[in-house]
Amino acid sequence: MEIIRSVQSLRKKTKLLIKQHKQIGFVPTMGFLHEGHLSLMKEARKANDILIVSIFVNPLQFGENEDFEQYPRDEEQDEKLAKEIGADILFIPAVKEMYPKKMQISMHVTDRTEMLCGRSRPGHFDGVITVLTKLFNMINPDRVYFGMKDAQQVAVVDLLIQNLNFPVQLVGLPTVREENGLAKSSRNVNLSRDEKEEAIWIYKALKKGQQFVIDGEKNPAMIKKEVMDTIKHNTSGEIDYVELLSYPGLKPVMEVKGQVILAAAVHFEKARLIDNLLFDESGRTIHVFKSEE
Ligand code: PAJ
Repeated sequence: MEIIRSVQSLRKKTKLLIKQHKQIGFVPTMGFLHEGHLSLMKEARKANDILIVSIFVNPLQFGENEDFEQYPRDEEQDEKLAKEIGADILFIPAVKEMYPKKMQISMHVTDRTEMLCGRSRPGHFDGVITVLTKLFNMINPDRVYFGMKDAQQVAVVDLLIQNLNFPVQLVGLPTVREENGLAKSSRNVNLSRDEKEEAIWIYKALKKGQQFVIDGEKNPAMIKKEVMDTIKHNTSGEIDYVELLSYPGLKPVMEVKGQVILAAAVHFEKARLIDNLLFDESGRTIHVFKSEE
């Protein structure tokens, strides 16, 4: 595995790989790797000749009062894990390398961001698409891999790829969970022991909502109420949102129809956690999201 820190070396390397007709799979991350990230890397490893992983805590996607400084980092462990999975290139640029000066172009997403995390984190997805545009241009991947844990991010990246005609396939893969159901997240280290127990209820509550649908409930309000009540009764966290929307369009629905997302975000003392379930009108789980090849 080669560790690359400069944009120039990365471009040199990827140009060569493309000349050799290698298929490149790319997994962008902010590091502090856990099994969620590793599952993306394993899948990308299988489906491509070359696996490139990036680790970059992108300041542009953090709001002023968010946890950019506190975001957990462990480069040594990340290098070890990426190597074990068989990554070919680990790209770890410094902030100055990615943003040598303040951006003079700003990108703004105008759809799929007025709800869920986009509403509580204004500008967040603008920062995400900006860094991804830069990374896609540096790497020219054939396929990019994202986790459905951040389903809104997948929906926004889908727009980015369509709107800007990036010649890349988007693959959204299932959320990896702890045995007790808690979605794996780099931010889980910021939960107290009690909060970690309580946080399991986010998933349990979403599952209850999905069960309502399986049992024939079609009214989003009823389903959301069940999820909210369950989270309220079982956690000390403060609910940011519980939403049921179409997916990937993220539009409100009058009744559960087609492909929908049931999503929740909850603030704990030092961490804001998100989770979601994707299912169809009969409540059947949808695991993977793929754009056209
Ligand atoms: P980060 O939070 O590090 O996540 C990197 C990728 O791992 C994302 O696609 C995310 O959805 C996925 N992931 C995180 N937890 C997961 C889990 N439990 N199961 C499956 N996949 C999981 O998302 C970002 O970084 C950034 O916004 C980034 C795309 C790198 C742009 O800066």
